[in-house]
Amino acid sequence: MERLLPYILILALTGFSFFLWQENLELRQDLDRLVDKTAATSAAEHEETPELASYMGSLQRHTLKCGLAIQSGNKELVEFYLHEIEETLEEIEERIPEHDGIVIAKRSQNFMTPKLKQFDRSVDSGDWKRIKSDYKGLVAGCNDCHQATEHGFIRISPEIPANPYNQEF
Ligand code: HEC
Repeated sequence: MERLLPYILILALTGFSFFLWQENLELRQDLDRLVDKTAATSAAEHEETPELASYMGSLQRHTLKCGLAIQSGNKELVEFYLHEIEETLEEIEERIPEHDGIVIAKRSQNFMTPKLKQFDRSVDSGDWKRIKSDYKGLVAGCNDCHQATEHGFIRISPEIPANPYNQEF
């Protein structure tokens, strides 16, 4: 019996190692599944909540560039930025119904669509006095929506500062 003891021990250890190996394999598979699931969930969440602030950053840049183009009387460029602003607002309206529990899409339509239409018409007319005045109306629309969405502290100015860009307007 005593001579058999080492063999029994080796057999038991081998069995136990096999058991551990299998446990490890199962745990790894569980982990892989979990990692896949987490990646998929965060991708879906990302898809569902595009960053409102980054859309706002584009709106601000394009509004300022539009103002600079107005100041230079560059109609083609004004039209280009007007189009960019329209596109960004459309995307916000399609993709962001709400943000932090605050209604966004509907308000964007209410505040911006009439202002955009008016600005669009005055750009078509080529009357720079009208264009300047409706540009101010457009910026007022931005600020009205900030007020309505508890962000009244974000105030966009209709005044055009000196050109900060390495771009000619
Ligand atoms: C639907 C309402 C709404 C409209 C329309 C709107 N905004 Fe905003 N804006 C917001 C909200 C809400 C925030 C705060 C976003 C956040 O919490 O991340 C914001 C944030 C901002 C910011 C701060 C983020 C930054 O990059 O500094 C700027 C600038 C801004 N908006 C510019 C504009 C401009 C310019 C327009 C018009 C062309 C505009 N917004 C139109 C609701 C609006």
